[in-house]
Amino acid sequence: MMSTGFIRDQWYVAAHAHEVGEDLLARTVLGEPIVLYRTADGTPVGLADRCVHRRFPLSLSQRVDDRIVCGYHGFTYDRTGACVAVPGQRRIPRTARVPAYPVVERDSLVWVWIGEPDRADPAAIPRAPWLDAPGWTTVRGLEPLAARYGLLVDNLLDLSHETYLHAGYIGTPEVAETPITTEVDDDARVVHVRRRMKDVACPPFYARSTGITGRIDRWQDIEFHPPCLYLLHARIAPTGVEPAPDGTDPHAFHAEIVYAITPETQTSTHDFWLVARDFATDDAEVSRFLAESNRTVVLQDVAALNALERVIAAEPPGFQELSINIDTGGLAARRLLNAMASEASGAGPLPDGRSG
Ligand code: FES
Ligand SMILES: [Fe+2]
Repeated sequence: MMSTGFIRDQWYVAAHAHEVGEDLLARTVLGEPIVLYRTADGTPVGLADRCVHRRFPLSLSQRVDDRIVCGYHGFTYDRTGACVAVPGQRRIPRTARVPAYPVVERDSLVWVWIGEPDRADPAAIPRAPWLDAPGWTTVRGLEPLAARYGLLVDNLLDLSHETYLHAGYIGTPEVAETPITTEVDDDARVVHVRRRMKDVACPPFYARSTGITGRIDRWQDIEFHPPCLYLLHARIAPTGVEPAPDGTDPHAFHAEIVYAITPETQTSTHDFWLVARDFATDDAEVSRFLAESNRTVVLQDVAALNALERVIAAEPPGFQELSINIDTGGLAARRLLNAMASEASGAGPLPDGRSG
């Protein structure tokens, strides 16, 4: 069974950049309630969402300039989390401060560091440059998942399920039929899963968005950067069209399908999804179609994983899963995640007694 332990000392996506603005946004990450907002100069800020006085959520409070005035008795916090005013007295207690999280905005995502702030290195954040690069158009969303983090990791690393769960959208029989290759880069901590399909049916998701009417070559090259960032490099081309020897690929269609998998609680997960494309970039109808189709696909996964979570919650301990070739990517991810969990600060025992 996969672990349900949180992996601290890591960067996690807390929000799409557009979600963080003037309003106070409440979001729980690895069980930690955080209030997010953007200061007047555009910097995203993340503070613990609990007033030091009587625990009132700062996200339910008032923003005054770049400060938050607690909505219960008026303790006032600056962007560093320091309390700068309390009611009825001049002296501000030395301990009046809420923790401030390291926050970095990158590639249209807002990342927060969960763990020892001293260990936060923004250079360690994996990149997804297509999401706000010229020449690309991105659609995106966020779905709440009432299932543990590990179930979504398993789901995304084994796309053979597209054939069964997503038929009529992105699934065709050939996805499940085509074997994968799995490689793990232990130093960089990346799992690569590759499925290259030749002369196969084009699923509606790509037929309608690219306009291809015939058979296609379809590549699914996954890069998972645990714990949070999942990249699916999708290449779709009329069958027989190959990239040029110099690596350019002007006659193919490329979609960069990105997920950020962020634990909310032990049994719920933020399922951030994004689809960036290098074709029909100005076509609002294609954007609308891809956004709606991908959301439908994500919700099919959400329904399935929510059902798995209910099964796990009800089952007696000791159930043994059965793994086959399609599971090599997911098993590799679990191995890396277990290694990361054992290195992190403050790693506690796994809450439900299961192990990796
Ligand atoms: S709970 Fe925030 S000021 Fe009292
Ligand atoms: Fe899926």
